[in-house]
Amino acid sequence: MSGLVKDKVALVAGGAVGIGRATAQIFAREGAKVVVADILVEEGQETVRLIKEAGGEAMFVRCDVSQGSGVKALVDKTVETYGRLDCAFNNAGIEGNVSSTADCTEENWDSIIATNLKGEWLCMKYEIPQMLKQGGGVIVNTASVGGLVGLPGLSAYCASKGGVVQLTKVAALEYAKSNIRVNAICPGGVRTGMSKRLAKQPQMGETLPAPMRRWAKPEEIGEAVVWLCSDAASFVTGHAMAADGGFVAQ
Ligand SMILES: NC(=O)c1ccc[n+]([C@@H]2O[C@H](COP(=O)([O-])OP(=O)(O)OC[C@H]3O[C@@H](n4cnc5c(N)ncnc54)[C@H](O)[C@@H]3O)[C@@H](O)[C@H]2O)c1
Repeated sequence: MSGLVKDKVALVAGGAVGIGRATAQIFAREGAKVVVADILVEEGQETVRLIKEAGGEAMFVRCDVSQGSGVKALVDKTVETYGRLDCAFNNAGIEGNVSSTADCTEENWDSIIATNLKGEWLCMKYEIPQMLKQGGGVIVNTASVGGLVGLPGLSAYCASKGGVVQLTKVAALEYAKSNIRVNAICPGGVRTGMSKRLAKQPQMGETLPAPMRRWAKPEEIGEAVVWLCSDAASFVTGHAMAADGGFVAQ
């Protein structure tokens, strides 16, 4: 452990599997107490078990980020248990169905926006007051390369992630003077359940992303997130950081 976030309290929304689980483990490895939140209970508890097995400290809270009351209860539980909230990784997301813009159903649109965009806003809505109360904090929101460039077949997803990038910039400006940094991470193709499900959908297929000609491992995103949350990134705010093997540089 190098202690990048030693003794900090870190919340990982969408921490049951994939990028969220890997990042929760890195937060713990770097010395943070971790709150893992997700709608997947067994998988979320498994993330906590893995952290504890490695000597870290963590707890699981079931939370649907699209519901304000649940997100408020999550932040309350975090503060009740660990006394504060230093780092928040708002990472819960869904990919929805692949279809061209005119074929996207209202149901698909609404569910993606509710989780990916409203969910990120709700997380910040309840995290920021606690951070203000304690004198500061750091937030990283998960966007995507789909928030920076268009990905055909993913109109609602790209709209949600573009929204996350903008939401991040606005919050960063609003709270810069209050010692709260807010950044977004924009992963490229990462080998998780989400990218595997997407690859199976008609119209998508197994396209190998990025100039590096490989998928990222979830921990390659997590390392960037924990760095953004650490004091090593103390002058970085309002940034949408691509961790994409060069995809958006093309
Ligand atoms: N995998 C990729 O290639 C990729 C690329 C760019 C961005 N992302 C983004 O990274 C994030 C993590 O994705 P992943 O690849 O690990 O996917 P994943 O499907 O493996 O994990 C997503 C997690 O979010 C949780 N979640 C979904 N809806 C939720 C809700 N309403 N409330 C609480 N938790 C909820 C899921 O249960 C799951 O644990 C997502 O926001 C995704 O859009 C992924």
